Amino acid sequence: MPFKTIIEPFRIKMIEPIRLTTQAERETILQQAHYNLFLARAEDVMIDLLTDSGTSAMSAEQWAGIVRGDESYAGSRSYYRFEQAVQEIFGFKHVIPVHQGRAAERILFSIVCKPGSVIPNNTHFDTTRANIEYLGARGIDLPGPKAKYTQEHHPFKGDMDIDALKSLIEEVGADNIPLVMITCTNNSGGGQPVSMRNIRAVREVCDQHGLPFFIDACRFAENAYFIKLREPGYEHKSVKAIAQEMFSYADGCTMSGKKDGLANIGGFLCTNDDPLAQAGKELLILTEGFPTYGGLSGRDLEAMAIGLEEVLDEAYLQYRFASTRYLGEHISEAGVPIVQPPGGHAIYIDAGALLPHIPPSQYPGQSLVVELYRAGGIRAVEIGSVMFGKVDPETRVEQPARQELVRLAIPRRVYTQSHVDYVVEAILQVYERRNTLRGYKITQQTPFLRHFTCWFEPLQER
Ligand code: F0G
Repeated sequence: MPFKTIIEPFRIKMIEPIRLTTQAERETILQQAHYNLFLARAEDVMIDLLTDSGTSAMSAEQWAGIVRGDESYAGSRSYYRFEQAVQEIFGFKHVIPVHQGRAAERILFSIVCKPGSVIPNNTHFDTTRANIEYLGARGIDLPGPKAKYTQEHHPFKGDMDIDALKSLIEEVGADNIPLVMITCTNNSGGGQPVSMRNIRAVREVCDQHGLPFFIDACRFAENAYFIKLREPGYEHKSVKAIAQEMFSYADGCTMSGKKDGLANIGGFLCTNDDPLAQAGKELLILTEGFPTYGGLSGRDLEAMAIGLEEVLDEAYLQYRFASTRYLGEHISEAGVPIVQPPGGHAIYIDAGALLPHIPPSQYPGQSLVVELYRAGGIRAVEIGSVMFGKVDPETRVEQPARQELVRLAIPRRVYTQSHVDYVVEAILQVYERRNTLRGYKITQQTPFLRHFTCWFEPLQER
């Protein structure tokens, strides 16, 4: 019998000290940051769960690769190593390196979209949607019917609604859809996975209408591991073989190497389409760089190439899922409402349900984010009305977001079990006194992406 304790399948070779702060210090830091933790200094944060993007710890092998990086402008050895690592897993003909995921999105959509184009997705990530809308096109979310029941367990809540995809194609016409996209795992939908069955079904619909199919591959390894654990017929396949099968159904992908590339920077765009690749490389040269480095240094390409191999290690994935699940289960068993089941890279607390006495107009998610920092020096991110609230241009009244969530994203290979235990303890302490939490008001904001810079003030009364 294997032991029930799943250990971190690595030991620590180099450490980065965490500065321990007192609650009194954190109170001052909160005031100075106007209660917006994007405005706080990272060194004032004890456990940083703001994002899993670019925050991974690299392995000794990756650091060795960094020293080996070839910094030649054209034809760098590191590029060829990177191209080979990408093709081995993703299998596409053209591999275009970029500095991060959104650069791949910008290049892809500027080529295929025109005003009025429609891009369906299970759920667009913010940068994907923004790049589409910037071109006058529309990004349409088609999450499966199970996605809206946050508390219900379902193995593949990231699936796309295939009937809705068919109706959309009928409604707007295939000519207006340059490509269909699916995001694995579905980050904006709670980090939930997409099944192989669903990927295959999207491929079939695309074939019926002659549409290209792209995957937003940011968390592909986590998605493939979910398939291994949950989809019948895949339990004996390697995660790598599952990933290869996922991409075999697609015509290309966009990727942020900052997630499942286990790198601190980097990304790529892949396609099997020669003219698209040609046009992509032309745009790449304009703003990113020559096609064998694409805005990265040779050492970044090495780190990503090695990271892509390491991320498919099943001992690593088992540990990663165990630590995310551990956090989710321990807080939800005590009563904290979270999006169920736990996703691969993050736990999403339903702050609207946790703090029913704070209306969306007083930002319950922000209140929880501030309190987690005050209590434990933990940084999380609000994904609710601060981020997505929209002011009605006529009435000037702010429309709340669909949900008031707080995301606790887990950086890869960075925190240990005791860090997670500490986070659980802090969340439960805040949960105990949830009735004392108060709402916030925004005192200063910008018209776009206000959550990054806006200032808050605590409300004294309900
Ligand atoms: N697609 C998905 C699904 C993402 O989660 C992200 C980034 C991107 C694309 C863009 O990639 O940051 O390399 O340009 N998500 C980060 C997050 C920022 O915190 O969830 P990028």
